[in-house]
Amino acid sequence: MSGAHAHIEAADEHGVAHAVERLASGGLVGLPTETVYGLAADADDADAVARIFAAKGRPADHPLIVHVASAEAAAAWASPWPDAARRLAEAFWPGPMTLIVRAAAHVLASVTGGQDTVGLRVPSHPVAQAVLRAMATAKGRAVGLAAPSANRFGHVSPTTAEHVRSEFPDLDLLVLDGGASAVGVESTIIDVSTEAVRVLRPGRIRRDDIAAVLGSLPLEAGADAPRVSGSLATHYAPRTPSVLMAGEHLKRQLRAFRQAKAAQPRRCVITHSFTVESEGTLHGIRLDADAKAWEHELYALLRRLDAERYAQLLIEAPPATAEWDAVTDRLRRATHGQSLDAAAERPSTP
Ligand code: TXA
Ligand code: MG
Repeated sequence: MSGAHAHIEAADEHGVAHAVERLASGGLVGLPTETVYGLAADADDADAVARIFAAKGRPADHPLIVHVASAEAAAAWASPWPDAARRLAEAFWPGPMTLIVRAAAHVLASVTGGQDTVGLRVPSHPVAQAVLRAMATAKGRAVGLAAPSANRFGHVSPTTAEHVRSEFPDLDLLVLDGGASAVGVESTIIDVSTEAVRVLRPGRIRRDDIAAVLGSLPLEAGADAPRVSGSLATHYAPRTPSVLMAGEHLKRQLRAFRQAKAAQPRRCVITHSFTVESEGTLHGIRLDADAKAWEHELYALLRRLDAERYAQLLIEAPPATAEWDAVTDRLRRATHGQSLDAAAERPSTP
């Protein structure tokens, strides 16, 4: 593989044509979507799909989402296409929602992770749409792009083309530059494969949005839910040890740091309800108390702070309302298992 590398191309007509050539010959493409960037391959090409798993270091039994151009196209990957899927698709596609349905017979087992269901999404990003359309024209039939988030297994998802390149610098990969992802966290995953509609991963489409369409609140992910790799406890994790704390607890902790006699490690504090003045080894960042702004900023911020090599990140817990479900979910995973003391003991060099 010497000489192979990821490179970024503008998502103009030429870039899209290059991407389609690669996909049609079994290659991988870094694909911008409105949620996060995907690592895309032709979902009908078993060798290409295997390349995704190899590149990500992802276990083979973790299923991939198939991206298609329209709800009609999605229905062709499902059997049956349930009424709940039809209604949710009409309300939220193209957009940041993935539906889990029973898979049609032609869906590759490597895409479904060997389960009898498949995840389907119609992205709204114009570049993703352009690639899907151009590929359908090139192949003379409807196509699906299998695409997990374009990060190494367990790491935070990429929201810019540069993030994708930095995840896979030595992979033969064309990354289309579609700008910063507008939503910034992964799609809401809704399982409609059984009567009991269930949210497997919270995202920009909230539980109340779903209730407004279906007439009742969906269930939340439970122990018996199908496998979602993002539901592993340490998924979506930054490299820097991180803790999540309620505002009042965080304020007390900051007072203790400031009064401590011993030299303190470099820490970064991210808040929404109060401002932390940067001082000495402590750096404060305040984001607006707005769930959508946090969704948009979070992954890019965690990547930037990783590069700045703090000994620890302290993050103020979001309000406990449905609006913040996606942010709270990702922050819990990003900080899982980090006790304050253990994290603070770690040296700041890698
Ligand atoms: O916003 C998104 O969903 C992004 C963009 C690229 O579309 N994709 C994404 O893919 O986040 P990935 O693979 O990183 O996360 C998809 C999640 C995984 O946790 C996977 O286990 C779950 O969807 N999933 C896929 N198919 C499934 C199925 N049949 N049953 C249960 N979970 C499934
Ligand atoms: Mg992912």
